[in-house]
Amino acid sequence: MFDSNTYIKRRNALRKSLKSGVILFIGNNEAPMNYAGNPYRFRQDSNFLYFFGLSLPKLAGVIDIDEGTDCIYGDEHDIEDIIWNGQLPSMQELAGLAGVSSVVPRKDLRIKLLSATRKGRKVHFAPPYRADAGNTVADLLGLRFGDLLNYVSKSLVRAIVALRSVKEACEIAEIEKACDTGYAMHTRAMHLCQPGVYEYQIAGALEGVAASAGGTISFPVILSQNSEILHNHSHRNLLVEGKMMLTDAGAETASGYASDFTRTIPVGGKFTERQAAVYNIVLKANNRAQEIAKPGMFYYDVHIAAATVIAEGLKELGLMKGDTAEAVANGAHALFFPHGLGHMMGLDVHDMENLGENNVGYDDEIQRSPQFGTAYLRFGRRLKENFVLTVEPGIYFIPALIAKWKTEKINGSFINFNRLNEYLDFGGIRIEDNIAVTKNACRRLGKQRIPVSVEEIEEEMRK
Ligand code: GLY
Repeated sequence: MFDSNTYIKRRNALRKSLKSGVILFIGNNEAPMNYAGNPYRFRQDSNFLYFFGLSLPKLAGVIDIDEGTDCIYGDEHDIEDIIWNGQLPSMQELAGLAGVSSVVPRKDLRIKLLSATRKGRKVHFAPPYRADAGNTVADLLGLRFGDLLNYVSKSLVRAIVALRSVKEACEIAEIEKACDTGYAMHTRAMHLCQPGVYEYQIAGALEGVAASAGGTISFPVILSQNSEILHNHSHRNLLVEGKMMLTDAGAETASGYASDFTRTIPVGGKFTERQAAVYNIVLKANNRAQEIAKPGMFYYDVHIAAATVIAEGLKELGLMKGDTAEAVANGAHALFFPHGLGHMMGLDVHDMENLGENNVGYDDEIQRSPQFGTAYLRFGRRLKENFVLTVEPGIYFIPALIAKWKTEKINGSFINFNRLNEYLDFGGIRIEDNIAVTKNACRRLGKQRIPVSVEEIEEEMRK
């Protein structure tokens, strides 16, 4: 946890932004894996973590703006809890860590909310993403579960996005720690990536690296030698020479902050000439994005700049043709780069995605593109100092997508479909780094960049 003043300041900022009403934060409960006594690793709700800091189940937080009070609703641990889980600080001591002096038994939350709604006061809540939390909110407020999303407070969502988008120095320091663990994970993958090794052996080792740094993985490891599959969570393949292994994996610190990196490396340690040629286009796109991202710039424009580098490079390889700007405007690059350049990152690897992707990534100035590929850009709005984002361009040769575009003659004037036959077994490449926007530019997070050039990767894989 951070210093209690951090949480007090955040709650005061939220209060100032919303002006009136009662704000309800339902913390997460344990989630059973196969029976109630065998839960998944406990993960606190990120909004609760941000405003109240406490990573324990069965808590709720209430900010009463009109009365000027903050309160944690939760129960003291009983003797059973102490026997099985050990002695914990009292609720009063725990609340004190978050700068909250008022602790009330959880059953009294209903009375508080009933009294507020009876007086016609607004109860603000964010969209619940777990069924049990949704049921709790519905029950407490006398709403139907199915109608809940109609009652979500848009002003609360806007206010949380505005606050959590701009990372504090203490948050960036935590994200840097997650990045350093990400470095250890990806260099470990480079050391293990040999023919005859199963993908799951490497994926398991990466989870161990994250755990041994005191945290965990920030999302299930994506790792595959079928590297054209964007998000492959199945790790059953035996690695074979000639393939490239794509690893998209990051760490979460004990305090909940994420990193998210991707590297694509040759099984056995040596890129072929053809692999290196495509690899260097993706690397150039990644570097270009990091060179130009700065406050005031739409991330959409950074995405388009990366797409332009990709289209230009693929033209040089003879796989695309025609005017580059026109090809990108028509979305022709998306045959190879069918996703967005990146997303915000913080307490969630896709930061605040539970508040709605468009509420985080778009605003009155810029709406999401409906065009295939660019439509997957999760974040398009103007950058501000201390935004933290991923930069993750890629080039993939997805046989089914190529066949579809060829049959349907999509963007035929920009694609050399005949040349593509030679690339149907190529796989894909993604290179992902994490950045923080600075006063005039952006900087890469983590002490060291994970080996990224062809030469650096080959050298690391020799170790
Ligand atoms: N790194 C996984 C994702 O961004 O979805």
